[in-house]
Amino acid sequence: MSTTFQLDTATSRAHPTPAPMRRLTVPAIRQRKLEGKTEQPLVMLTAYTARMAQLLDPHCDMLLVGDSLGQVIYGLPSSLQVTLDMMCAHGAAVVRGSYHSVVIVDMPFGAYEASPQQAFAAASRIMAETGCAAIKLEGGVAMAETIAFLVSRGIPVMAHVGLTPQAVNVLGGYNARGRTRQEHDKIIADGQAVEAAGAFAVVIEGVIEPIAIALTETLQIPTIGIGGSARCDGQVLVIDDMLGMFERVPRFVKIYENLAETIGAAAAKYAAEVRERSFPGIEQTYQPK
Ligand code: KIV
Repeated sequence: MSTTFQLDTATSRAHPTPAPMRRLTVPAIRQRKLEGKTEQPLVMLTAYTARMAQLLDPHCDMLLVGDSLGQVIYGLPSSLQVTLDMMCAHGAAVVRGSYHSVVIVDMPFGAYEASPQQAFAAASRIMAETGCAAIKLEGGVAMAETIAFLVSRGIPVMAHVGLTPQAVNVLGGYNARGRTRQEHDKIIADGQAVEAAGAFAVVIEGVIEPIAIALTETLQIPTIGIGGSARCDGQVLVIDDMLGMFERVPRFVKIYENLAETIGAAAAKYAAEVRERSFPGIEQTYQPK
């Protein structure tokens, strides 16, 4: 995809803008798994801002505006305090910054669990205010009725099973799930239930690998792993995790770049130059003609 540069006359900044192209669709994502097989794995990353969306968009099939933004952007202790207002604001920014990927926005805790009607009100607001193509919600069997209700009313749903961070207080932490027979069977049943309810794909987070493989082999919809298996139909990571912005990350994160170090070094250099009065230099100051 070609990249052009657009001058924003308000700020005089040149934004690299991907040349507009036809956006992928939810049915196109669903169709990437045919007869139980996905030729080319689906690529998904989280994004929370327009600029990050611009940078990730050419490389992804899907951008997820995850409620992980609670911790990543707002420094909250968990995703439980994330609001619909936050999801709408960041969802709209990511849609504005992308042209190619399907944008999916997380439903925040408390906005959908009470009833299918409550879920429809929240999901339709998210879709109307952001322009995203789909929403994601956590839960399996317990959410099946809600998923069917949303899908039958025009709202594509990505489901999320296994380690579901919004249920941290019930689960007792963020450890890998599915080590007992009972939990193993529950996660398999959750995956089957969300497919039967009409979800177009399912995130499988933090489960022992045989569960991720079993769901991938038996479900017709794409499975997107995060702490699942390389054999899932696709993968997702939290962008700030894979860019090394946090010191402590779960086992399933691979750090592709250490941006925290790069940013710290740049800030230290800037601070030193300000203190020794070598910044701004002649190139950064305006001289009389
Ligand atoms: O909120 C989020 O970022 C997510 C991903 C980890 C799948 O749900």
